[in-house]
Amino acid sequence: MADDPGSPQVPQSVLEVTAFSPGARDNPHPPLEALRHNCPVMRDEMVKTWFLTRYADIRETVNDRSFVRHPLNAEEGSISRQLIEDDQPRRTSILFLDNPDHARVRPPLAKAFYARIQKMKPQIEAIIDDTIDAAPASGVFDLMAEIAVPIPVLVIARILGVDEDRLPDFRQWSEDVILSLNPVRTPEETARMEKGSHALDAYFTELMDARRTASQDDLITDMVQLQASGDAPLTDDEIRINLGALLVGGNLTTTDLIGNGVWLFLTHPDQLAALKANPALGPQAVEEVLRYEAPVSATSRIVEADRTVAGCPMKARQVVFCSLASANRDESMFEQSERFDITQKRASHVAFGGGPHICIGAPLARMEARRVFEKLFARYPNLSLPPQDLVWRALPFFRGLERLDVKA
Ligand code: HEM
Repeated sequence: MADDPGSPQVPQSVLEVTAFSPGARDNPHPPLEALRHNCPVMRDEMVKTWFLTRYADIRETVNDRSFVRHPLNAEEGSISRQLIEDDQPRRTSILFLDNPDHARVRPPLAKAFYARIQKMKPQIEAIIDDTIDAAPASGVFDLMAEIAVPIPVLVIARILGVDEDRLPDFRQWSEDVILSLNPVRTPEETARMEKGSHALDAYFTELMDARRTASQDDLITDMVQLQASGDAPLTDDEIRINLGALLVGGNLTTTDLIGNGVWLFLTHPDQLAALKANPALGPQAVEEVLRYEAPVSATSRIVEADRTVAGCPMKARQVVFCSLASANRDESMFEQSERFDITQKRASHVAFGGGPHICIGAPLARMEARRVFEKLFARYPNLSLPPQDLVWRALPFFRGLERLDVKA
């Protein structure tokens, strides 16, 4: 395709469109747009990765069941290989599990998890309301620290069944295991991550044993009961690692959905006014935040056997990264895609990926964000942004703020 002289310089590497690059960390959208228009299927030999940026290609790729996910299937030197943990390279949650195991493990977990979320909706909303009520009544405070960070971890702790007195430990371990999302972590961070992960496993083992003796109203009880009845053919280790995945997958992402959403509403007062005037727009508003600033900016698939992807020949073991952030701004799919507009009914975004690996936590993230926006803007009718230099997190493939000062 011909170069478009109006667009910014076309990136030559994936690194230029992720949070590795300071420019893209602040605003990844112009370089992604340049790729979408000029090089929608890019090969980056340095990190041995394909990078797709068009909605149609990405939708087709994430939905295609013939790709695999486990990083050990990826070629040496690719970004995906760096996500493998050294001590037990094959051990993985559903996130990187392939069939037949994915099809065995995910359905019972998803069924139990969704039933839990529905049952606990009033408790989840109460946690959100209490956290927002506990934030400062006036003055300037960091929305991330006071609201966006604590809510997802407190909610998942309650769903799982974490004991109140272990909450501080649980929050610390969650922080530590989230380091697994960073493919360029330091050796110290890897050590912290491994320590947190072992502590978490030990605690899940303790809880599973306790729930086998005395059941409680929580997801851990659901899982050990399903296992005992034969309805969930899962080993103890599979239960542990997937409960851990609910933490790793759900905390930072939901934190960023909240933070990105509040930032978007406060920088688009007409949209906040539209939401306040018509609260029924709540669910659509959450979808628009997810589309406009997707908290997870890319997901990946691995080619199993030589084939064509998005019109290009690709080889077995090659990694295909799909830019969800770019797909969600694709102008051929979304009218006025650069406009944050909660009042338009839009086509569905890909912020949660798609196909067999589509985010299992989507219903929970949606439920939390909807309640947070409703409660927050009701409690603080005049919430505003004081002058500040926004700092976006330097974590590749994620999009979220380090802190967000708001004035109550
Ligand atoms: C706004 C919040 C969230 C976003 C943007 C998000 C995004 C994603 C994305 C893009 C994927 C990969 C999908 C694919 O490759 O097709 C994924 C998978 C996953 N997410 Fe989420 N997520 C969010 C919240 C959550 C929550 C709340 C949980 C759990 C409590 C969770 C747990 C998971 C798990 C376990 C997977 C792996 C599913 C599988 O491979 O079968 N996520 N998420």
